[in-house]
Amino acid sequence: MCKEVLDLIVSAIWFILPAYVANGAPVILGGGIPIDGGKRFRDGRPIFGAGKTVRGFGAGLIAGSSVGMLQWAVTGQCIYIALGLLLALGALVGDLLGSFVKRRLNISRGGAAPGLDQLGFVVFALLFASPLMLPSWEVILTILILTPIIHLATNFGAYKLGLKNNPY
Ligand code: CTP
Ligand code: MG
Repeated sequence: MCKEVLDLIVSAIWFILPAYVANGAPVILGGGIPIDGGKRFRDGRPIFGAGKTVRGFGAGLIAGSSVGMLQWAVTGQCIYIALGLLLALGALVGDLLGSFVKRRLNISRGGAAPGLDQLGFVVFALLFASPLMLPSWEVILTILILTPIIHLATNFGAYKLGLKNNPY
């Protein structure tokens, strides 16, 4: 029983790792010009906000895809190259759409949107990967349960290290 749960956790993290790295890299490597160019939506609020930058998106894509390349190097299975790219892209697009929704709900940059902040990116990563490959439903469920916990823990760590302004 215990070993089965551990196997599920390892499989879940192994599969979704490019999305995690794509989501985390911008915190360290992001900044600079915002993707929306500082423009506002028709409601007068920012389209995405200053927390979504071109450099952060690019860094996330490169870092997440690099994980896929490493997974390919380790396993010899070239599907990991494409999976890494799709998972990274999906995570970044999901994060961007999450910010778009937050701005429409009048939640300012860095403000909390419980659920959306922790799961949006991973749901989109899975959606983007789905035409190519998805893990078993048990592994998907494990990803959906584990991600908010890992996201909150790593964000709290980043906050303590002074990398983030908010602990969530
Ligand atoms: N970041 C970036 N570019 C991205 C995504 C993130 O530069 N495409 C950086 C920003 O410095 C951002 C930090 O990573 O502040 C943390 O990301 P996140 O928590 O997603 O952004 P928030 O600042 O909380 O903004 P939002 O409310 O829009 O989620
Ligand atoms: Mg945030």
